Amino acid sequence: MQVGVPKELSVAERRVAVAPDTVPRLLKLGYTVAVETGAGTLAGFSDQAYLDAGARVVDRDTAWGSDIVAHIEPPGVRDDGRHEVDDLRAGAILISQLDPARNGELLARIAAVGASAIAMERIPRITRAQKMDVLSSMANIAGYRAVVEAATLYGGFFTGQMTAAGKAPPARVLVIGAGVAGLAAIGAARALGADVRAFDVRAACREQVESMGATFLQVSVEESGEGAGGYAKTMSPEFIAAEMALFLEQARQCDIIVTTALIPGKRAPILITAEHVAAMRPGSVVVDMAAATGGNCELTRPGQVAVEHGVSIVGYTDLPSRMAPVASRFYGQNVAHLLDDMGGGAKTRINLEDEVLHQSAVVLDGQVRWPIEPFPKAEAPPPTAPAAAVAKAPDAHVPAIAQKPPAHTGAWKRGAVLVAAVVLAVLGVTAPGEFLQHLTVFVLACFVGWQLIWNVTPALHTPLMSVTNAISGIIVLGGMLTAGNAEIDAAAILGAIAILFASINIAGGFFVTQRMLRMFHR
Ligand code: NAI
Repeated sequence: MQVGVPKELSVAERRVAVAPDTVPRLLKLGYTVAVETGAGTLAGFSDQAYLDAGARVVDRDTAWGSDIVAHIEPPGVRDDGRHEVDDLRAGAILISQLDPARNGELLARIAAVGASAIAMERIPRITRAQKMDVLSSMANIAGYRAVVEAATLYGGFFTGQMTAAGKAPPARVLVIGAGVAGLAAIGAARALGADVRAFDVRAACREQVESMGATFLQVSVEESGEGAGGYAKTMSPEFIAAEMALFLEQARQCDIIVTTALIPGKRAPILITAEHVAAMRPGSVVVDMAAATGGNCELTRPGQVAVEHGVSIVGYTDLPSRMAPVASRFYGQNVAHLLDDMGGGAKTRINLEDEVLHQSAVVLDGQVRWPIEPFPKAEAPPPTAPAAAVAKAPDAHVPAIAQKPPAHTGAWKRGAVLVAAVVLAVLGVTAPGEFLQHLTVFVLACFVGWQLIWNVTPALHTPLMSVTNAISGIIVLGGMLTAGNAEIDAAAILGAIAILFASINIAGGFFVTQRMLRMFHR
């Protein structure tokens, strides 16, 4: 199986879908890699770098004629009038960002050549798929870059200075929207020493914002911004008015505003008006990351830097492309993880039983599958934490949490409870007393131990850590009940050992979390 990596069509797109350091990983998965001549040049990767990594460097037709074609931007029409998609082979798989909601014609064209297509931005937000999530990896880079762009236009220090020649206060940065991009922007601005404040309609963000050393702002109007699946919902006009009053007050104080506010499937809300811009000090900077989805600032010009009232308003829509080497590496790793999920090498296939492929395969063997039905079995989305923060799609991503579990789940659970009750009743009549005593300890430990630890609010610790801590909770409780015997016998000693090790595991988990939190404090 050959993975083809053609050059991107747009000269504004500097990224390449597979960087040289991803090539060995693809080879290990059982693929050969064919990179179009010059595909990595704008990202700083020479043809020789690909050759050294074990890829072949080929012409355009060979790259597009591969079994799998990895791409970044939706394919388009070349200067010679030929559509890139027409070079795909029947049976090939195109892996690319495709924006399927807006590109129906493109999907039909891919179907017409008998190929399949996976839209990278439709990969669902489930824990298992985080490593394939290009929206997260790219928004993370974009958030960082937004602060770098602001720093180049802002004529002051980010960190406060106290010198013999005078002193300068730290830059004041406001970040609106604390999703993936917003959290990355907060991290970058804090790392540069700025005084950062942030606002988001989702209360769940507060802890993450504060854990990164920024101040979380609030408005007087109480309204939850939580939409389905952890996404934001459209807020009431009263809330938006209160929010804008807050931003006006902040605009007078802040040197830099980074806006990332986004409602899936909707135009980005206007939160910074001409009045806000006029209230900012000349020399200040607004970076409107939502420029591509309509912009959060009234004065944004997508793709450009506009200067109004002495304030620079950055409307770049290609922030990840401005960090093409690292963005290409991350994108390539996302693609490699996806190919691994698809079976790798000769076993590669689009298995619609797999939620990731079910939600992202927009064309399958010449058939357009868009719009895609929700996957029947939902997995809870990952928590939005700084390190594992998840991006939400700019349009209607199907939130995994909103999907209904199959109707038979309830019946299955009732059946299991009934069987357990019958088994317990039979054991109660027939089993020796000592066995029943152990069983009681076990069942009690399962219920109480799990509840005790699982219900600790996870701050930065992952779902995996919550589960292992909850299991340790079961062990501690079971150990306590067993070790609590009057006599010191083998069971009591084993119980004490279990308590010791499980406690080390729980305490270690919290200690590691604390250390991770400290990494975000300066
Ligand atoms: P996200 O969905 O993770 O974050 C958006 C945040 O905005 C959410 O936390 C949401 O609660 C918040 N929000 C929504 N309405 C709000 C309001 N009225 N006030 C305050 N907060 C509000 O999205 P992500 O991945 O962080 O992306 C953010 C933006 O950056 C998007 O517009 C995305 O399209 C854009 N982006 C831009 C790039 C560029 O090159 N310019 C590259 C990558 C992303």
